[in-house]
Amino acid sequence: MPCAESLLELADRWLQVGPCLVELAVRPELPREHYRLVIEPSGTLLEASEREGFLHGLQTLRQLCWSGEMLAPMQIDDGPRFRWRGLMLDSARHFQSPGRIRWILEMMSALKMNVLHWHLTDDQAWRLEIERYPRLVEVASKRPYGEPDASGFYTREDARSIVEAARVLGIRIVPEIEMPAHSTAAMGAYPELTCTGEPAPPTGTGLSTFTASTGKRIYCAGNERSFEFIFGVLDEVMEIFDSPVIHIGGDERPEGIWSACPKCRAVMAREGLASESALQHWFMNRVSEYVRSKGRRSMAWTPTVEHGILRGQIVQDWFFGVAPAAVAAGAEVVNSHDRFTYFDYPNFPGRQKPGWMPDLPLEMAYAFDPGEESGRVLGSECCLWTEMIEDEDISAALFPRMMAFSEAMWSPAGRELEDFQRRLGSLGPFFSQLGVEFAKPYGIRALPGRRAMTNIAPEGPFVPDAAVDGKFTTYFWSADPPVAGSTFDLVLDAPVEVCGTRLMTGSDWQPNDVLHGGLLQVSNDGENFETVGEIRGAVTEASFPRRSLLVIRAKLVADNPTRLAIRDFRPLAEDSHRGQRR
Ligand code: ACM
Ligand code: ZN
Repeated sequence: MPCAESLLELADRWLQVGPCLVELAVRPELPREHYRLVIEPSGTLLEASEREGFLHGLQTLRQLCWSGEMLAPMQIDDGPRFRWRGLMLDSARHFQSPGRIRWILEMMSALKMNVLHWHLTDDQAWRLEIERYPRLVEVASKRPYGEPDASGFYTREDARSIVEAARVLGIRIVPEIEMPAHSTAAMGAYPELTCTGEPAPPTGTGLSTFTASTGKRIYCAGNERSFEFIFGVLDEVMEIFDSPVIHIGGDERPEGIWSACPKCRAVMAREGLASESALQHWFMNRVSEYVRSKGRRSMAWTPTVEHGILRGQIVQDWFFGVAPAAVAAGAEVVNSHDRFTYFDYPNFPGRQKPGWMPDLPLEMAYAFDPGEESGRVLGSECCLWTEMIEDEDISAALFPRMMAFSEAMWSPAGRELEDFQRRLGSLGPFFSQLGVEFAKPYGIRALPGRRAMTNIAPEGPFVPDAAVDGKFTTYFWSADPPVAGSTFDLVLDAPVEVCGTRLMTGSDWQPNDVLHGGLLQVSNDGENFETVGEIRGAVTEASFPRRSLLVIRAKLVADNPTRLAIRDFRPLAEDSHRGQRR
């Protein structure tokens, strides 16, 4: 059996009793990932045909110990319904430390999940070191304004050691490099790859927000250098990641960019392509064939199937209805239907979210059925997009919904929600001791010593305190356009030494709802205010000689033509407020 040493080490660590109490026996007749666990007064026997089966059996044994159920003799014959049970983790919008990713891998392994799909690049940032293209980390891994968890990248060594940690836990890492869209960060670093070749704004990526959902800077499909670059990147990606599957993105290309480009139009004419989506199919096919030529398979998001299935490609569906058609057309599918699997959607009603976004309660995650076990539906990935998820929210976003998801992928149809909820109760202590924070509504937090006060009525959950909680992902939003004379105050509980302030108006989701004309005022008693600057545009920074302050105020000098969103309002030169980090 390969890797017996790491299995025994894991058994030792997980069972905390030494490996000799559990007898392991290889049973070649058992299917992949299946295991049989026999617990008798005389001892415990674990059988499987290969390493993953033993791992799953050990995890079961470990959880039985914790739940106190390992008292009676029993036999468990167990194996998965689907072979692809994944988590897609977006490390581009917010960056997670390698330690945090190892923790996520441990949680996945405890839930018998076996694929971490690692979304490493997007409009907002590029996270993987590529030696041939150093500007990807020098420029594209950085974000403006010191947004929390915003800047950072994984060295090749970081990535390799994460691949190894995953392998030990029976998890494959499928890296994703996005193209042709969701690539604004890379295009900020190498603007010559865009259709116009125009340099990006000085902030690097040109996107100051996490969620400006699709950047307008995409690879030019008519420039051979785009393909040289992508192939060069993929060569290094395939050196680092041994996964037989490489994800090449393919979602949400904004229309109109390629048709406006003479080089792209020339390719369309030469290849007889009637539309931009046909050009995308041609583009993705070139990249997919390159991946194939290296002995790997490509995987891509749904839009690539519009013009047929690419040879050998795995299709990842994220909205209802495409998976069955893709299967009928002969594709293998990973079904990540957003209504059931997008765990960035709020876990509780009443949370801040964009208008189009539904809630995703635990019951929905549990109810998910990705399709027939025809062999073509490989399984599913739950998806943690992180536009609105900072590091401190990850646990609550994943738990307990990822437990429901993993059971839905593992167990046959006809599962009972009530039974699941009962077991959830008994497994709670097991996951809590691993650092899981359960079922916490995530989003706005209370920051000690700071409040917001305003005479502007808020829209539903977009309460004033969201502007002063130190998070860039939550925001205040007015119900109506506020009128001249309205005020929005950052109130400190006690006077604080301050030498500046920063106000960010307009939010990721409401970028036009900025404060159009106002004054920045300060007060050390809450009654007498002094003007220290004017408010212009989305970001206003003012600095002044250090002084003791109680209130910092934004005051409208004219009726605002739009509603008002305030993403962040903070005193400067104060200690960082960030919470505990793993
Ligand atoms: C996606 O949600 N754009 C894959
Ligand atoms: Zn072009």
